[in-house]
Amino acid sequence: MTSKEAVAKAIHAVVNDLSVETILGLIEKPKNSDMGDLAFPAFSLAKTLRKAPQVIAAEIAEQIDAQQFEKVVATGPYVNFFLDKSAISNQVLQDILSNGSYYGNQDIGQGRNIAFDMSSPNIAKPFSIGHLRSTVIADALANIVEKLGYQPVRINHLGDWGKQFGMLIVAYKKWGDKAAVEANPISELLKLYVRINAEAENDPSLDEEAREWFRKLEAGDAEATELWQWFRDESLVEFNRLYKELDVSFDSYNGEAFYNDKMDEVVDLLQEKGLLEESEGAQVVKLEKYGIEHPALIKKSDGATLYITRDLAAALYRKRTYDFAKSIYVVGNEQAAHFKQLKAVLKEMGYDWSDDMEHVAFGLVTKEGRKLSTRKGNVILLEPTVAEAVARAQAQIEAKNPNLPNKEAVAHAVGVGAIKFYDLKTDRMNGYDFDLEAMVSFEGETGPYVQYAHARIQSILRKANFIPDGKSDYQLNDSESWTIIKLLQDFPTTINRAYNHYEPSIVAKYAVSLAQSFNKYYAHTRILDETPERNSRLALASATATVLKEALRLLGVEAPDEM
Ligand code: ARG
Repeated sequence: MTSKEAVAKAIHAVVNDLSVETILGLIEKPKNSDMGDLAFPAFSLAKTLRKAPQVIAAEIAEQIDAQQFEKVVATGPYVNFFLDKSAISNQVLQDILSNGSYYGNQDIGQGRNIAFDMSSPNIAKPFSIGHLRSTVIADALANIVEKLGYQPVRINHLGDWGKQFGMLIVAYKKWGDKAAVEANPISELLKLYVRINAEAENDPSLDEEAREWFRKLEAGDAEATELWQWFRDESLVEFNRLYKELDVSFDSYNGEAFYNDKMDEVVDLLQEKGLLEESEGAQVVKLEKYGIEHPALIKKSDGATLYITRDLAAALYRKRTYDFAKSIYVVGNEQAAHFKQLKAVLKEMGYDWSDDMEHVAFGLVTKEGRKLSTRKGNVILLEPTVAEAVARAQAQIEAKNPNLPNKEAVAHAVGVGAIKFYDLKTDRMNGYDFDLEAMVSFEGETGPYVQYAHARIQSILRKANFIPDGKSDYQLNDSESWTIIKLLQDFPTTINRAYNHYEPSIVAKYAVSLAQSFNKYYAHTRILDETPERNSRLALASATATVLKEALRLLGVEAPDEM
């Protein structure tokens, strides 16, 4: 039973009219913790009881069974509860020390699958910051749902199909150089792509040629397929290098091309259900009744399929293959209209499971306050940027702790963690400015700050030679440790909230508060001094380290034991 539930039960015993459920919904946390740990506002009872809320609060406080609490007092219209610090600290610390990293695990999902459409860069194009955000946010959400008992399925829906591959084949056949592509796949292929697009402006026959090659590709022509496969393989070598740096992996790389032979079925189904209409030679589904003005374009007049056609096939395939409880698309907010259409078309087809599909969107990243734009040269190249973050982390470690063993590994954990954490601590719909200096700083609400708090606790525990034990009594009743105990107690519900809002920032902000509270505690309390509380204080430190490490793990960030 949580403390909130205990409070709700105690109130219910006095005010039978209100169910425990209702009371749970009314209980608040007083703004100032001097006022108590939990508060029940009596306003809602004033009408039925025909008394002033102040009077009701006083009556409840008097009648309540206060034994299990430190004290219960009425303050104006509120009944304020002061929890029993010693009992709760003991309960929370034992819970964490005996469960270790499993603390906070829940079995809400009962092993059901949740599909994550994530990362999904485009072949032969640079991996953008948007793709990074998708990768990092989805990976964190996947860890979070796993902790709640679901089985995440990480799907990299590669952009590996479309007319642009016709363009690329034509360009490569005209101007390509195998060795150059192999040395620098994405930048070489991008150059070819840019060049053919520029030349096609004056020479429309190139466009026609490209369309022809894409048709061949769609039909399985050997030469076209071989080139396409090679572009894809070479691009993936580059992407995988980055994924390895980021320590992210996928269960599936089934991208758009995978659905090439699965789109006829979708089109047939739409036809059978009478949903396809002709519009200027193209096949569309009208979605006005969903408040969507633009029809979904399923097939162009030349018979070519589109992005959404592949997403429809993918949605069906995923439902069949994974029987998902949820199917989550972590994609930039600029594609919101696309995902609205996608869901509406499936709903129109009679698939109520489309309600389980969620577009988890996110905002744009800027650099020096300006929008990123390949054309204007305001770009962030991920691989060198990650390397730079690691180098900066290494320089700081060098200055702080020159004798640290495994300096490279720690610098990697800190540098990569810094980039991820900075992204994840932001409410996802907000963008942020990509500021490497701020990211890698050991001060502020950063990954390194949290990692450092964790490493410092580990060093205290090493010094004390403390072996945590989930059976001993660990009681604390001072107000500084109480702040930490309450945060530790909140960890499980924090994970639920993060899932309910698809918002890893809730976990990131939590980790920052926990690290801050512990640092404050550490500044005021001589943990290692020989006092009667010594073991309880060390238990508190150990539990904090466990939860910090687990919170970081959920975010895909490592927590080195020394740094
Ligand atoms: N490749 C696309 C892009 O880079 C993202 C794909 C998102 N996923 C999806 N199922 N449509 O914009």
